[in-house]
Amino acid sequence: MLVAPSILSADFGHLADEIEAVNRSEADWFHVDVMDGVFVPNISFGFPVMETLRRYARKPLDVHLMITHPEKYVERFCDAGAWSVGFHLEAVDSEDDVHAILSLIRAKGARACLTINPDISAEGLLPYLDEVDMVLVMSVFAGFGGQTFIPDSLNKIRFLRREIDRRQLPTLIEVDGGINEHTAGLVRHEGADVLVAGSSVFKAPSMEDAIKALKNA
Ligand code: DX5
Ligand code: ZN
Repeated sequence: MLVAPSILSADFGHLADEIEAVNRSEADWFHVDVMDGVFVPNISFGFPVMETLRRYARKPLDVHLMITHPEKYVERFCDAGAWSVGFHLEAVDSEDDVHAILSLIRAKGARACLTINPDISAEGLLPYLDEVDMVLVMSVFAGFGGQTFIPDSLNKIRFLRREIDRRQLPTLIEVDGGINEHTAGLVRHEGADVLVAGSSVFKAPSMEDAIKALKNA
């Protein structure tokens, strides 16, 4: 199981130290939550924080764009050092546009990820499964850290796992929102590959132990 701590929950007054703690842990990636205040009712951070991550992080940067018009910014995030770039299916108007944005990301040599909020059917991802490196199932509504896991996301993970296996694809399933030691076990059981965790990692007494617990859930 891969674990990607979400730096949204980090202490930004000590960001380099928080990044270094993740570097030294068993975590696999950094999860980078970018919010524009339009697609979601919250604003997080953008390129200056990407620059800090690029300077200090020694693990891949998994960028989760919660923005409208992702086509305007995906390439710039690739240039800023993103290892993978994900955007929301429901943020894009047409199927053609989704294909085009996935191509922009892959042409930059980054991994392309497609994301859905809890109110979007997983069936909407099916036309793109062959061309994405990863699908991200939101297990809370995008916008804030520290929310409670929505159990219905387990059905989506199971559905996507079955379809990915049936097509024999290498596509990863990532789950984001309300992940802790308990919910990590549930999503792993349904076939998730990557866990995003913010508060359960950064607010834990020991980040190292929290990450270990998620990896072994
Ligand atoms: C929510 C973000 C998540 C969030 C997870 O919009 O996409 O990545 O930081 O935080 P927790 O783990 O606290 O739910
Ligand atoms: Zn996220």
